Amino acid sequence: MTATYPLLEAGDVLAYLRRSGLDRLLGDGPAEVRDVTGGNMNRVFVARAGGRGVAVKQAPPWVQVAGPDWPASPERIASEARAYRYLTDLVPDVVPVVHAFDAPAYTLVMEDLSDLRVLRDVFVDRVGEPGAAELGAAVGRFVGELTFATGDLGLTTTQRTELTAAAVNPDLCRLTLDVLLDEPYRPHEHNRFDPALRPDVEAMYANDELRAAVAELRYVFSTRAEALIHGDLHSGSVMVGRRDGADVVKVFDPEFSFVGPIGFDLGLWWANLAIAAAAAHAVGLDAVGAARQSGVAASWAAFERVWRTRWPSRADPAYPDGYLDHWLARIRREAVGFAGIEAVRRVAGYSHAADLTTLPDGVRAATQRRVLAAAVGWITDPIDLPAVGLETP
Ligand SMILES: Nc1ncnc2c1ncn2[C@@H]1O[C@H](COP(=O)(O)OP(=O)(O)OP(=O)(O)O)[C@@H](O)[C@H]1O
Ligand SMILES: [Mg+2]
Repeated sequence: MTATYPLLEAGDVLAYLRRSGLDRLLGDGPAEVRDVTGGNMNRVFVARAGGRGVAVKQAPPWVQVAGPDWPASPERIASEARAYRYLTDLVPDVVPVVHAFDAPAYTLVMEDLSDLRVLRDVFVDRVGEPGAAELGAAVGRFVGELTFATGDLGLTTTQRTELTAAAVNPDLCRLTLDVLLDEPYRPHEHNRFDPALRPDVEAMYANDELRAAVAELRYVFSTRAEALIHGDLHSGSVMVGRRDGADVVKVFDPEFSFVGPIGFDLGLWWANLAIAAAAAHAVGLDAVGAARQSGVAASWAAFERVWRTRWPSRADPAYPDGYLDHWLARIRREAVGFAGIEAVRRVAGYSHAADLTTLPDGVRAATQRRVLAAAVGWITDPIDLPAVGLETP
């Protein structure tokens, strides 16, 4: 297949910015453009001149790493732009500034975040990161504000139904259903795992209780049109750093966004923190591990705080006060289950966690085994916040 709109290469970006009137966002002097495409799906460039810059992200009509043989609707970038529109009002400090969305070119021009680091890379370094609790709190507030404002409590029935219809994202929901909520639980050509884990993985394939619980979460993902969610909230979708002497947390890449289950965002986030904590403990960095793990409780606390604060202003007063506790307990249970789903695919699915794959030979397989065992428990028995635990394998 070929694209029906011009696809940007690094050499086109400055002309594109000039044509769009966005070169005013650059400073004076010679400009440079870097191709920073790092993910699987899209093209990303950073243009800078005179100490000022922008990031330009374009969705091709296929999966970028695979090419035209794997078509994927470029409408995903409209989903990203829609999520940013809400988030810019709700949590402007936790998302990049969006300068422009060019719908016909499937291109988003946003704040250059190159001074920050992708959290996954920071985790891989295993040197500890600034303020893990602050990190957890920022992401919990992100999920809390987004989901209250765009769900049944923040919107009228008409507004919510319109948003649900406008925000459909069938291609990327399909990808999640396949890659997270199906393939890792049966033999599939996409699945990869350390050969030492084969008995554990085969036991998982044969675990009927697990497969029933996964089916339930798959159904929740498909049918619970609860609020606008990020949809891909792992540590590769968060950047961290410091600006003006303060910790900065930015959540980016909400291209999987749709009106779905609130627990999905929390669960993905928790799994990534618990995995990063397990990786730190595996190499004896117990304080770093504990700090990372503390982000799980901190993000739940921040999420709950937003909901308790906003609840009295809910759009639909037919929900009695007493319902909130019941509601929070359900979200938390589903989130723990989705944390298990995310952790399983990071060990035995298609896309692994670099914090685990980069562990030294002596501890790598054992740590992955512990993550997998913990994850199965989160799915089948979601009673507490997810932690891999420190017991020896
Ligand atoms: N605003 C930005 N400023 C600077 N660099 C950025 C910015 N946005 C993205 N990047 C860089 O580009 C990489 C890919 O970005 P992003 O995750 O948005 O793309 P993607 O193609 O959707 O990735 P994935 O396949 O993981 O979903 C990031 O990991 C980061 O290194
Ligand atoms: Mg992406």
